[in-house]
Amino acid sequence: MLQLPSTYSDLEKYTEDLCSLIDTPLVRQITGGIHVNDALIHNAWDGLPAEWTEWWSRWPDHRLAQQDLIDRIDEDGLGDDVGSDAAVGEILRTRPKSLRSWLAQLKALALTRTQRPGPTVTLPEILETRMKTKKIAEVARATRLIRDVCESRRIRRVVDMGSGQGYLSISLAHLFPDLQVLAIDGSASQITGSQSFADSLGIPHSRLTHMVHWIDGSSALADKVADWAAGDGCILVGLHACGNLSEHMIRYFATMPSLDALAVVGCCYNHIVPRSESCPEGFPISAALRSRNVTLSPTALMTGCQAPNNWPRPDPHASSVFGRRRLYRAMLEKAFHDHGIRLPGGDGSERPAWGTRKGDMASFTAFAHRAMDCLGVDTAQRPADEQLRAYEDEYKDWEGRIAILWTLSVLCCKVVESVIAVDRYRYLAEQQDVQDVDVVPVFDVKVSPRNLMIVATKKRRQNCNV
Ligand SMILES: C[S@@+](CC[C@H](N)C(=O)[O-])C[C@H]1O[C@@H](n2cnc3c(N)ncnc32)[C@H](O)[C@@H]1O
Repeated sequence: MLQLPSTYSDLEKYTEDLCSLIDTPLVRQITGGIHVNDALIHNAWDGLPAEWTEWWSRWPDHRLAQQDLIDRIDEDGLGDDVGSDAAVGEILRTRPKSLRSWLAQLKALALTRTQRPGPTVTLPEILETRMKTKKIAEVARATRLIRDVCESRRIRRVVDMGSGQGYLSISLAHLFPDLQVLAIDGSASQITGSQSFADSLGIPHSRLTHMVHWIDGSSALADKVADWAAGDGCILVGLHACGNLSEHMIRYFATMPSLDALAVVGCCYNHIVPRSESCPEGFPISAALRSRNVTLSPTALMTGCQAPNNWPRPDPHASSVFGRRRLYRAMLEKAFHDHGIRLPGGDGSERPAWGTRKGDMASFTAFAHRAMDCLGVDTAQRPADEQLRAYEDEYKDWEGRIAILWTLSVLCCKVVESVIAVDRYRYLAEQQDVQDVDVVPVFDVKVSPRNLMIVATKKRRQNCNV
């Protein structure tokens, strides 16, 4: 069962409210309707409720206003702690009611990420030395959970899709010698690294098989996995299965008789492929969300990858170039737009990127020169320095506004991720053979922001080897 946010008891109502929220004009605008880079072209600031923009303009430092917004969606429910001085305290007391309730709605509709307590495995040093602290914590918890599902379902085979360097598959094979593991990844170099790590531990190939294969939902891969399973029931696992890899896994689980259980944590939602004529299998995958015509723009999907509550809190005494860089980026788009400069990808989701060097942030003119050099803008088309300075003059007070617009889009991260998780949950719940589905916040969210694991099992089969 899906653990709904505390104010909900009905999945239908929750799904409806969640899908309605992401379809409101405001959320559509801030999650891609107007990309923050295009904010000056389309005057996105004026698209926000006037009482909100008026209120933000009263903050002495926009970074505090940004942090205040981020705190409002924190699950641990931090107080109004950006306001240690009296002036900020006074501003906080006058937060517009409509903003307060919109922020409360964002929080109330987000699935919980508070880690669900559960046992972990103490990994031996020989495994830990190859992993970073974050990965150690993830593998310690995931191996225990997967092992428990295996024991309760009498499963002896694990298929790890998107196995990467093999931290999960190798740990499972090393810790539980009665398991046979198949590690599949589309990258030959990842599989080579995983194989050599496994060999260094002396894990026999008969217990840990590696396979280089692109995972695309094809029946060719399903046949190979079924051959390897040899009629035994398997658990399909994936740790940070990027983008639509998670969706392919969910479909394999639903359709392949040899897959008896599933445990998958997604990530990199920006790699999700939306449903279209050329990709009928794309997002959303559930009938429940398809019937509501749910769509998420590329910017919204990118937003789903953010974890603003894990960002360092701003130091109002230290200067930061982040806000200025964002403003300059938006000013550049405006200058290009005004001067008819078109770049490949500039009108779509994929925006050209370049690096700035020391000195490029000294003024908008320096920044724009660097950008135009990197992007190969024709000299004849380039705005004159005088014109660039006019932009600097016109938008000198806009850093805070652009920063707030950016923060607003990031603020939707949890509802976007909830939409994706609900879609996956509902797709599985719609399958006849599936018995239980759960969305488990499996890791400490402060360490691993992508911590929602979809765990599912099938109804017992009559003729199987388990
Ligand atoms: C984020 S890494 C996670 C690796 C590993 N599970 C871990 O937690 O350390 C994702 C891995 O999935 C692989 N991958 C992503 N999409 C894939 C696909 N469609 N088919 C095969 N491999 C894929 C990548 O090559 C990469 O190794």
